[in-house]
Amino acid sequence: MTTQTSPAAKPASKPHDAEKAAAFAKGLEGVIGGQTAVCSIEQDKLIYRGYEIHDLAEHATFEEVAFLLLEGHKPDSRELERFKAEIVAERALHPAVTSFVESSGAWLASGRAVPMDVLRTAVSILGHTDPDCQDNSAAANLRKSKRLLAKIPTIVGHMQNVIDGRALIGRELGGDPTLSHAANLLYMMTGRKPGKEEARVMDVSLILYAEHEFNASTFTTRVISGTLSDMHSAVAGGIGALKGPLHGGANEMAMEMLKEIYASVGEKGIGTGAVDEWMQKAFDTKRKLMGFGHRVYKNGDHRAGILMGLGKKMAATLPGTFGGLPAPKWFELGEQVQKIMLTKKNIHPNVDFPCGMTYFTMKIPVPQYTPIFVASRITGWCAHIMEQHGDNRLIRPLSIYTGPAERKWNG
Ligand SMILES: CC(C)(COP(=O)(O)OP(=O)(O)OC[C@H]1O[C@@H](n2cnc3c(N)ncnc32)[C@H](O)[C@@H]1OP(=O)(O)O)[C@@H](O)C(=O)NCCC(=O)NCCS
Repeated sequence: MTTQTSPAAKPASKPHDAEKAAAFAKGLEGVIGGQTAVCSIEQDKLIYRGYEIHDLAEHATFEEVAFLLLEGHKPDSRELERFKAEIVAERALHPAVTSFVESSGAWLASGRAVPMDVLRTAVSILGHTDPDCQDNSAAANLRKSKRLLAKIPTIVGHMQNVIDGRALIGRELGGDPTLSHAANLLYMMTGRKPGKEEARVMDVSLILYAEHEFNASTFTTRVISGTLSDMHSAVAGGIGALKGPLHGGANEMAMEMLKEIYASVGEKGIGTGAVDEWMQKAFDTKRKLMGFGHRVYKNGDHRAGILMGLGKKMAATLPGTFGGLPAPKWFELGEQVQKIMLTKKNIHPNVDFPCGMTYFTMKIPVPQYTPIFVASRITGWCAHIMEQHGDNRLIRPLSIYTGPAERKWNG
């Protein structure tokens, strides 16, 4: 039997407990997790590669923003046409992905799966069908980014067709090649080509959702790609992180909350103290109100006002009722809730709050709000995955041990 000698003691490279405790921030609040050239968040500005979000929401299209994030600069007209043609050409799904989505109907109907789960699995299968799946080179990553960007709306559209029990729309081509990313997404979900205004509101919502620095899902994609794992694995992880109600899932929960308030106060209660009473009960029970608050923004989310303004303007033109209420009434209720939150709690809405009302009055089923977020955020995730792979170092923080003191197994 050979005796093993202990390796020579290495100089201590880990911080001591006191240093760890001093550096610790629960939820990594305030911790700088890396460097990025993709996006900058400041209290008074949100910037994508040098361009401010109000400027982009007013003057750019989602396709231009997607190009900016993925290819790194503002496209000229030829680059944009080339990019749009590349995306349109990649919209259709491999039959393996289509057949998985078709087979997901029973899980969705039983509630065992929600659309975000089906989308996550479908993205994993997309990886198996992608010839570049295991190639992490910059060129392969860019090709995969474009395929993911093109195919995710097709998955979302087909999934909604399955839920609605109708034939898949745009099965051969992934929709209508003449439609923009935003308009095609709506078309594939509903079979109806949206009007110009509706398509633009969706387009702007996708611009607003495209990128947000080191948020939880993007950080997840960077942690996964930091192990030199592949883009599809990182995106599947990102979808899992985005699903949570404290992150992207908040756009669905914000609308569910508004529906709950309406069910409680009725149409006549909107604009009255009945809403204040509902909110007070929520405060008394320490309930988190979805679509409010932000880890970074303390004076409000720049994106929320943009989407609120657009959604409200569109709602004013919409005839009929939505879940029992005329479209403008949902915004009236939303504005009242915002006002009470600000006055009583000094907490501002985030982009998910107006998103809920906006998508609801576009007649989009609530469980698809977060998958639509994915159809946009895929651009930011892929930009970060490429940045991580381009200058990689494994992401591996430390922890503070809080378990039992060392003890003997046989003692
Ligand atoms: C986004 C969010 C997770 C940020 O969390 P955080 O930075 O950890 O902030 P905290 O949860 O510690 O909140 C700080 C304080 O504000 C309160 N607060 C924050 N967001 C709140 C909300 N949406 N509703 C009610 N109270 C809220 C907390 O209860 C806490 O109060 P306390 O100090 O009295 O305990 C949190 O604001 C939240 O849960 N919001 C709702 C979900 C949501 O909209 N997510 C989308 C984010 S873009």
